[in-house]
Amino acid sequence: MRNQVKSFIVLAVCLTVASAFGRPGQDKRYQDGTYRGTGMGYSGDITVEVRIQDHRITDIKIIEGVEGERQGAVEKMLQRILAGQKVEGVDTVTGATETSAAILTAAKKALENALSGGTKAAKEEIPIEYSGGKKSLGARTWLPTPVWVIGSYDAAGKPNFMTAAWVGISCSRPPCVTISLRKATYTYGNLIERKAFTVNLPSEAFASQASYFGRVSGREVDKLQVTGLAEVKSELVDAPYVKEFPYVVECRVIHTYEVGLHTMFIGEIKDIKADPTVLDAEGRPDMTMLAPFFFFPPKGGFYSTGPFMGTVEDLNDLKKK
Ligand SMILES: Cc1cc2nc3c(=O)[nH]c(=O)nc-3n(C[C@H](O)[C@H](O)[C@H](O)COP(=O)(O)O)c2cc1C
Repeated sequence: MRNQVKSFIVLAVCLTVASAFGRPGQDKRYQDGTYRGTGMGYSGDITVEVRIQDHRITDIKIIEGVEGERQGAVEKMLQRILAGQKVEGVDTVTGATETSAAILTAAKKALENALSGGTKAAKEEIPIEYSGGKKSLGARTWLPTPVWVIGSYDAAGKPNFMTAAWVGISCSRPPCVTISLRKATYTYGNLIERKAFTVNLPSEAFASQASYFGRVSGREVDKLQVTGLAEVKSELVDAPYVKEFPYVVECRVIHTYEVGLHTMFIGEIKDIKADPTVLDAEGRPDMTMLAPFFFFPPKGGFYSTGPFMGTVEDLNDLKKK
């Protein structure tokens, strides 16, 4: 992500329900006061503060942890919660679903505090527990993960590419990968419709395009036109791939699995296409030439790979010790 997480941003949305949205009924269960809750965004926690006056939400704002580019979406979310006086049924903002979901979680927790009238304005801390000398970081997806660009066609045949990092290999025979998509992505609908996708492995040289593919939706823009990249129609599956990316995996969707916020698609690999420039003398992909990179959620950004460490056989020298 291009912009660093801006800590301690205070996005005040001081709209009174009465003036802007009419007067929804009070909820007598809400105790007057100021309450906070925290939700997990892509690259860190988002803390929301709600003020309850006369048993109604009169103010809601972000205290901490919103990425600069998402402020428009954040404001929309806060206004929606304020207008509805609740989080249930509030729609997420397209293109910022992860951030929206974190705001809903945070606001829900703040309102739960308001129900009990307890923990006023107390920031919810992640529980710190020690076991074997380890510090608890909470239940979250803080793991390094590969960056893939998923290619698909929409119902009208328009090619689209989105960045995905919730991905992995899931089976050797048949060779399969998994990608996990939120329903709000344009790509999700494309895969349901076409039952196919490509995995395009961006090399480091395409880091900014990969970032762009992950920040805007094909529902609103033609990402190929903006990036100047070209598509090639796969001959094996009903999906396009990026001509300029050096390594492409063609997949047919064989299963979907509802996990929660994300739907997991299992794609059977039908073929891998590689530029000759990324192959070694034996015709195998060369990691240095591929130059893939990884997403690390706690940092909200990309890391390149390091040097080759040795084969598994070479490194398995414990028996000798
Ligand atoms: C590094 C990175 C990784 C991402 N990984 C995923 C992911 O695994 N699943 C997902 O649903 N969205 C992911 N996103 C967000 C989508 O790429 C983003 O919502 C995109 O706009 C969806 O594009 P589309 O609407 O054209 O399909 C990621 C974004 C970035 C920047």
